[in-house]
Amino acid sequence: MIVLGSNSEVARAFVEAVLESGTRFPVVYLFTSDRETAEKFARHLDVKYFQPCEVIELDLLQEADYSKLDKIQPGLLFCAAGYLGAGTAEGLYNHQNTARIIDINYAKLIPLLNYFASKMERQRSGTMIVLSSVAGDRGRQSNFIYGSAKAGLTAYLSGLRNYLYDKKVHVMTVKPGFMATKMTEGLPLNPKLTATPQQAATAIFKAYKKQRNVAYVLPVWGVIMMIIRNIPEFIFKKLKL
Ligand SMILES: NC(=O)c1ccc[n+]([C@@H]2O[C@H](COP(=O)([O-])OP(=O)(O)OC[C@H]3O[C@@H](n4cnc5c(N)ncnc54)[C@H](OP(=O)(O)O)[C@@H]3O)[C@@H](O)[C@H]2O)c1
Repeated sequence: MIVLGSNSEVARAFVEAVLESGTRFPVVYLFTSDRETAEKFARHLDVKYFQPCEVIELDLLQEADYSKLDKIQPGLLFCAAGYLGAGTAEGLYNHQNTARIIDINYAKLIPLLNYFASKMERQRSGTMIVLSSVAGDRGRQSNFIYGSAKAGLTAYLSGLRNYLYDKKVHVMTVKPGFMATKMTEGLPLNPKLTATPQQAATAIFKAYKKQRNVAYVLPVWGVIMMIIRNIPEFIFKKLKL
């Protein structure tokens, strides 16, 4: 198993949900930009589930070193790597903020996902679960740089799912809606629309077992986004969303 963004609480809860179900892997590869924290999680998985893990450093602001990844045979990939960055009010014209959002959520991530997709294609097996966002369903004035990177990721996953379908590889896109994690700390989120990392992981695990193509974490977000997607543009452009 491969985990990208393994210090995400959602990623951790998902890994534990898989291990709780009794599945074991030869190795769980924990990709992270924070080795020390990931190593603590690796020890936890070893003690609690006797699951061997290897921590691999990953900085999505840099090109990945693919030579280090040759030995990995991916069965299940879970990608929680992502970066919200500053929204429009503070960050729109900040070049560094914009570039960082695009790199982590899209530009540097796609080549890495492609690398593992090519291995799965050769093996003719595997599942990729990737967290995108409802923000990618329609660009809104409050955070459309992040939204556009996630829209690109969602479109990529849709095409990849289509391309890999007859190669026996499944690709699942997750559109979480709000989740109470370190990414959203301090943001005024409506509790009725917000999932805990544990709730999110449970919902994603169920969707994975059902081989869903696209999954919203809380079903209400499917309804909200259907309405938002269908507002005519001449009205939408006047809204403060
Ligand atoms: N929270 C929400 O409301 C929400 C809503 C919609 C979508 N999402 C998406 O869901 C996913 C998980 O989010 P989360 O809420 O769990 O956020 P999070 O706690 O901030 O986790 C995101 C992870 O991305 C990894 N990451 C960030 N910058 C990186 C970099 N430069 N290089 C490599 N990895 C990097 C980090 O993992 P390491 O520390 O291990 O490097 C980080 O823990 C993300 O894709 C996010 O965009 C979240």
